[in-house]
Amino acid sequence: MRIYYQPTLLSFTTVVLLSISAAVARGGSRQLLYTRDDPITIPPYLIFENVRLERAYVALQAWKRAMISDPWNLTANWFGSRVCDYNGIVCSSSLDDPLVKTVSGIDLNHGDIAGHLPEELGLLTDIALFHVNSNRFCGTLPVGFSQLSLLFELDLSNNRFAGKFPEVVIGLPKLKYLDLRYNEFEGKLPESLFDKDLDALFLNSNRFVNKIPVNMGNSPVSVLVLASNRFEGCIPTSFGKMGKTLNEIILMDNGLQSCLPNDMGLLQNVTVLDVSYNWLVGELPKSMGQMENLEVLNVERNMLSGLIPEELCSLEKLREFKYGSNYFTGEPATL
Ligand SMILES: *[C@@H]1O[C@H](CO)[C@@H](O)[C@H](O)[C@H]1NC(C)=O
Ligand SMILES: *[C@@H]1O[C@H](CO)[C@@H](O)[C@H](O)[C@H]1NC(C)=O
Repeated sequence: MRIYYQPTLLSFTTVVLLSISAAVARGGSRQLLYTRDDPITIPPYLIFENVRLERAYVALQAWKRAMISDPWNLTANWFGSRVCDYNGIVCSSSLDDPLVKTVSGIDLNHGDIAGHLPEELGLLTDIALFHVNSNRFCGTLPVGFSQLSLLFELDLSNNRFAGKFPEVVIGLPKLKYLDLRYNEFEGKLPESLFDKDLDALFLNSNRFVNKIPVNMGNSPVSVLVLASNRFEGCIPTSFGKMGKTLNEIILMDNGLQSCLPNDMGLLQNVTVLDVSYNWLVGELPKSMGQMENLEVLNVERNMLSGLIPEELCSLEKLREFKYGSNYFTGEPATL
């Protein structure tokens, strides 16, 4: 067995210094004063392999306390110092010190757990993955998440989170995959979201409103799903700038009202484009005939008009094209 931690090297003082907040010793018990009101107390008999796992213990105990229902008893073994053995907790060697084992991921997908996310989760500073899809978590993301500087994938989908877009994610330097779909987030999207170096962004089935920020085209995502919200106004004209990276975009079931931008043809790597169930007007741009990788195109249930451009017929990979319930006046004989 590998020894990750030499107890003699880390005194209790180090524990105090390494904690995000101050820690105090009282009557032999160690107490991390992360939340002012009701801190998690570490029983003095618990021995941790290293200080990071001790901090993870505080985070996970605070989280367990914030859960009000756990029908599958997933957290039944969340006690004691062996946090790496807790259900749903993934540990690995830390990036900065391969000899130190640390909590690197959370996977409580499909847990059906109800509760909220406490501030103490900010103590899990080594996590790269935080996956809690299909639970019943409510509230919003605690600001403590700003501490998670290694977080790469954040999946909060299919929960009961509400309130404004959780801006704390904008500051996460490593975040690439953001999945907030099927929640009750509301209000406007921040422009900064589209200047962020994300790879995939799923915001569908929330209550986001207003215009899609004009800088949407700055986003380097390969997948963008904004479906089933209450976006209105124009599809940003910056759209064509996404041509180098964009692979799939789904804007269906919103209140989008503009024309499709004329330079759609720049979206050369797009395989799936779905703008159905909106209020789009005007014609399908002829330049769409240059979207060589297009496989699925859905524009049905809009107010599009004119002729369906002949150019679309030359798209060799196009295997599904839906355009019903519009005001098109004609279609090419070859369709
Ligand atoms: C969870 O634990 C409770 C109490 O021990 C038990 O009654 C229940 O059957 C357990 N549920 C599952 C799904 O194992
Ligand atoms: C875009 O598509 C071209 C042609 O299929 C391919 O060579 C290129 O790697 C793709 N670029 C990206 C970023 O996916």
